[in-house]
Amino acid sequence: MKKIKRDFLTLLDYSKEEIKYLIELTMDVKKNKLKYSKVLNNKNIALLFDKPSTRTRISFEVGINQLGGNCLVLDSKTMQLGRGETYSDTAKIFNSYLDGVVIRTFKQENIDIIALNCDIPVINALTDKYHPCQILSDLFTLYESNLLFKKNMKFVYIGDSNNVLNSLLIGFTKLGIDITVGCHPKYEPDKKLMDILREISKNSGNKITIINDPIVAVKNADVIYTDVWVSMGDEESTQKIYDLKPYQVNKDLISNAKQDVKIMHCLPAHRELEITSEVLDSSNSIAWTQAENRLHTQKALLTFLYS
Ligand code: CP
Repeated sequence: MKKIKRDFLTLLDYSKEEIKYLIELTMDVKKNKLKYSKVLNNKNIALLFDKPSTRTRISFEVGINQLGGNCLVLDSKTMQLGRGETYSDTAKIFNSYLDGVVIRTFKQENIDIIALNCDIPVINALTDKYHPCQILSDLFTLYESNLLFKKNMKFVYIGDSNNVLNSLLIGFTKLGIDITVGCHPKYEPDKKLMDILREISKNSGNKITIINDPIVAVKNADVIYTDVWVSMGDEESTQKIYDLKPYQVNKDLISNAKQDVKIMHCLPAHRELEITSEVLDSSNSIAWTQAENRLHTQKALLTFLYS
């Protein structure tokens, strides 16, 4: 019987049990590299990146190779996509040659169209709406630090609303873990997504708290997470940078959190804007482990999708 394909487009499509399974599987993948070296034998997986990437692209390419697969790196500008061939027609071609495709693009709709039009797994490597691969790594990094399921763990996201925050909110809500967002009133989380999350929370039991005062938000925090203020493809806005200045993760702000607060950042960082070098390079920072764990979590995801 033909296996029904699974995509990884947003964590909204994954259950609490599946997310927990992926986190636990990552621990095994990280510890036992050789055990998984044939998972992608004879599989050809393409990476289609319409936006720059360091961590996601390299970790997928290395991860696919470590799992025994063959990786092709594609660029839409040098494909007929760049001359107007539709995403749905391109998907049919992917279907003919490939066993899977990892896509970083602008609009979530484009990746959804590709997933709809092919029978091979499609993985979201970042869109305007979601960045689920990043959040798998973030959740695993917290798990590895014995923080994810710690009772009353206070996790605070500081900054503006974007694809990373959307996916963090989904991941935490699915797992039933509380999350606080410290943000300027102009840059609060997407209202439609919040409505969806409120419904999920009725079962999962977590609480999302939005606080506009950054000092109040980070009070007694176990973890502070931040991300760039100007996302890829967005125009840099002087007004936005001015508005967000009080939300910079610096030594003064983190002095309101627990002394051993862990600092997270999905990187790349705009040093001295959303975070100071003093904090990013401090012993509190686990941003570099987060980045390393991209490799292990994505290998676990591929193992899940192809086993
Ligand atoms: N965090 C992240 O997705 O990094 P890249 O943009 O370098 O892939």
